[in-house]
Amino acid sequence: METRILGTDDNSIKEAGEIIARGGLIAFPTETVYGLGGNAFNGDSVKKIYTAKGRPSDNPLIVHIADISELDALVREISDKASALIHAFMPGPFTIILKKSDKIPEEVTAGMDTVAVRFPENAVAQRLIKSAGVPVAAPSANLSGKPSPTKAKHVITDMTGRIDAIIDGGDSDVGVESTIVDASRDIPVLLRPGGITYEMICDVVPETVIDPHILESLKADEKPLCPGMKYKHYAPDAEVTVIEGDMAAVKAEIDKRLKEHSGRICGVLTMSENCYDSAVILHGGMTNKEYAKNLFACLRKFDELGVEIVYAEFENRDGYGLAIRNRLYKAASQRIIHVNTEE
Ligand code: TXA
Ligand code: MG
Repeated sequence: METRILGTDDNSIKEAGEIIARGGLIAFPTETVYGLGGNAFNGDSVKKIYTAKGRPSDNPLIVHIADISELDALVREISDKASALIHAFMPGPFTIILKKSDKIPEEVTAGMDTVAVRFPENAVAQRLIKSAGVPVAAPSANLSGKPSPTKAKHVITDMTGRIDAIIDGGDSDVGVESTIVDASRDIPVLLRPGGITYEMICDVVPETVIDPHILESLKADEKPLCPGMKYKHYAPDAEVTVIEGDMAAVKAEIDKRLKEHSGRICGVLTMSENCYDSAVILHGGMTNKEYAKNLFACLRKFDELGVEIVYAEFENRDGYGLAIRNRLYKAASQRIIHVNTEE
């Protein structure tokens, strides 16, 4: 299949909308990461999304809307708590899980009786959904197992030949996928941390709890609330280790490890002004927010550069920290070293 690259002019968006309405697949920018969209009301086009990504069909998709009024047709009930979250965080980098209506085909929800819904803030995403005239089912537009795409070039690398077109709308602002809250139950549960932080959610619904699997791996026989949790995500080819703590101790630990692995191609992902000898250094950013924005692009870049071992600096500096730790810990398959300078 030939995959076209489209701009964000009105003609391109109109054409992309028509392709989705007809059952085709379009990758498009959102403020979190690029999405791979198909008509959410058409089970066959949803099946094509799983094939294009190489994604297991038991991992449900998020349905994207461009106006709050579209929500009623997708869900059975909206509790007061869910309603408060919706009004506080939509549009934005936020996904809510509610009991699904009969209009959602089972391919979207992988047989679950709930559906994940997101109203992105990105203007191009909103124009595309409106132009399609239907809700758009979309996972992140990466091949299954690769870091989510935050630039059009990442999508071009992963999806060329697999989908109808890619809309190049520049870099994603947030850089990690949306915050997911399951509000289909009495006590809302944070299933995936993102740009809307846990603190922001608790300001609206203080009872919200955090799913403990956000920072831990699942045990062999455990069934997660969020099916995506059981898959190894965001894993670059390089072996990643997170070195977490204050930056002086982090530097000392990484220096020691670089010496031990002097025969290998090593890289360091930094969130400080630390310098390292004989390593490929990529700078994530000085704040947690910047680090989140650049994280996936840096992981992809290390692979492009043939780096074999990556040490990722990390210090928890603000509310974005949970989202970064969740992604980094997965990329590192739980190889996490805590260090601190002695007082
Ligand atoms: O920012 C984002 O959310 C991006 C952009 C494109 O919107 N999308 C995204 O989709 O990250 P995806 O498919 O890569 O991640 C969706 C996650 C998966 O882990 C899936 O298991 C979970 O949401 N999910 C979807 N529906 C669910 C449901 N009904 N119950 C529990 N988890 C659900
Ligand atoms: Mg994904």
